[in-house]
Formats: sequence, structure tokens, C-alpha cells
Amino acid sequence: MRISEFYGERLFPEYREQIRGVLDSVLKDIEKEAHPDIFETIRYACEPGGKLLRALMVVSFTKAQGGPLSDALLCGVALELMHTASLILDDLPSMDNAQIRRGKPSCHQAFGEARAILAAVALINHAYTILGKLPKTDASGKIRLVRELAHAVGPSGLISGQWMDLHGELETFKDVERMHYKKTALLFECASIFSAILAEENEVACMCLRKFGARFGMAFQLLDDLLDLVASEEEIEKPAQQDIQKLGYLQHASPDEIDAQFHKYFDEAFRLATGSQWSEPAVQFLEPLIQIFEEMLKRFRTLKAT
Ligand code: IPE
Ligand code: IPE
Ligand code: MG
Ligand code: MG
Ligand code: MG
Repeated sequence: MRISEFYGERLFPEYREQIRGVLDSVLKDIEKEAHPDIFETIRYACEPGGKLLRALMVVSFTKAQGGPLSDALLCGVALELMHTASLILDDLPSMDNAQIRRGKPSCHQAFGEARAILAAVALINHAYTILGKLPKTDASGKIRLVRELAHAVGPSGLISGQWMDLHGELETFKDVERMHYKKTALLFECASIFSAILAEENEVACMCLRKFGARFGMAFQLLDDLLDLVASEEEIEKPAQQDIQKLGYLQHASPDEIDAQFHKYFDEAFRLATGSQWSEPAVQFLEPLIQIFEEMLKRFRTLKAT
């Protein structure tokens, strides 16, 4: 089964529909002013979208804390635009050189590098435009949201993580952890902290949510690496084994070590969620993650044994 379907059947179908609706209206706004070629490229990259996990996290967690659904949907779409931009760039020939993304030709394959790069930069900027116009959030809330997002994807966040990934020099699990945190976990941390900001939560709740998003993101990227190694192109809807040269840390580790590393993040995320206001959506996120991980670890054990 496709991984996206596996999540899709388990995670908030009603919110997914609403997120798609808001994404659609955001695209209509972009269409009004953008050059038709740029709009076509943006729409290609954004529709129908991927698993929408970052948006679903903002929306379901905000709702669980009693925050405004309409702004949560817009924030979720802003995060998905940012995430999609990072994938367009990640697939470029100078980066991972991937030909397939979300089951179709990657953006530069379909439209060429110039249009792909311009569409990615447009999406990054438009994500901030959405945050600046949230109808139900006051000015100080909007500033906090913008700062969180800029921190997650800016020079100390995703950009440096992506460079660490491309550049190598990843000798130990500690190095890999730092890279995974920056390139992937920070954006999930952003999703969870967005919900706390929208729901006007106190400092303690904010810290707990921040940690949950980070731990979830770490487990998610470790699983993405494992999927790269042992899943098929049909299952992940992107090239199989595309990062095999970069995944030395996985190939040199034993299955038990990978299991322990995954559980270090997963168990902590579970512990943080227990008893919280947002434990229900948190558990919904964690269940498919562990199920897919266990199946992939089984395959990894077989691979190692042969
Ligand atoms: C892919 O993220 C990039 C990583 C951080 C591993 P997703 O697996 O969430 O991608 P989509 O949005 O569902 O395509
Ligand atoms: C990408 O990590 C994370 C980003 C910052 C874009 P990967 O390179 O492993 O993501 P996939 O496997 O191509 O989706
Ligand atoms: Mg990459
Ligand atoms: Mg990649
Ligand atoms: Mg990957």
C-alpha cells in the first residue's frame, strides 16, 4: 500500500478536505496576480499535495486546545507551501537530483529548473503573506508565528540542515541527529508550536508542544531514511534508494540500534502527549508512524540477514 494512503485512511479525513479547500482558495489568490507560467508551476507542485502532515498537525492540535479553526487552516496551508518549496529545491539536480515527487515528475522535470526555483521562492514568500493576514490572530501572535517559521526554515534551520545533508561529514549518530533536527524536525516543531500560539497557551504548554513536534519530526525523518532503503517507488511515490550513498549511518547500524534510536524519539513523544489536552490527535499521529516503522524494520532485518 502507498504510504500516503496509509496515513490518509488514519488521519483526520475531515480536516484534510478543509485544508484542501483553503489551499484551493489560496491558489486562486495567487492566480490573480502571478504570471500564468509561474502559477501553473506552483499549482503543479501544490496539488493535490502530499500527506499534509504539517497542516494536519496545526489544525488538529489547535482544535484540541480550543483555538480558532479558520486561522489554523490558513497556518496549515502556509506550512505546506513552505514544505513544498523545500521539496522542489531538494529535488533539483544540484541537490538530490530526483525525477519523481508525489508520484509524478518532479517540478524541474516538468517545467525546467528556472521555473521550479522561481516557484519555490514564490511559495516561501507567500507562506509569510498568509501569516501576515490571519483574520483571527492579533499582531503579536502573527509576529510570533512569522518568527517561528523563519527560525525553522532560515539560515540556522532547514537551510543549514539541507547543506549538512548534501555536504556529508556525518560520522556519528550525533551528527545525523543534528542534521535531521534542522532539516526536518524544526518544521514539525513549528507546526506544533503554531497550535499553541493560536490557542494562546501558556509557556509550559508551549514547551511541551515544541518538544513533541521535534521528537515526532526526528522519528519521521529516521523512518523516511529507512523507507528510502527498503520501500519501493510505488510505496513512497518518489525514487527508491535515491539517497543510498548518503545513508551510511543506516547501513552501518544494526536493526536493534535503529530500533533503539527510533524509540528514543517515539517514546518521548508519546510520554509528552500523555495527559495533555492534545493527546488524542498526538496518538493519531503516532500510531501510523510506529506501524510503518515496524514493517520497515522487519524488511531491514531481512536485508541485513541476507
Ligand atoms: C518529505 O516529507 C520530506 C521529509 C522531510 C522526509 P513528507 O513525507 O511529509 O512529504 P509529502 O508532503 O507527504 O509529499
Ligand atoms: C528532505 O529530506 C528534507 C528537506 C529539507 C526537503 P529528503 O531528501 O530525505 O526528502 P525526500 O526523501 O526527498 O522526500
Ligand atoms: Mg534531501
Ligand atoms: Mg530528497
Ligand atoms: Mg528521504
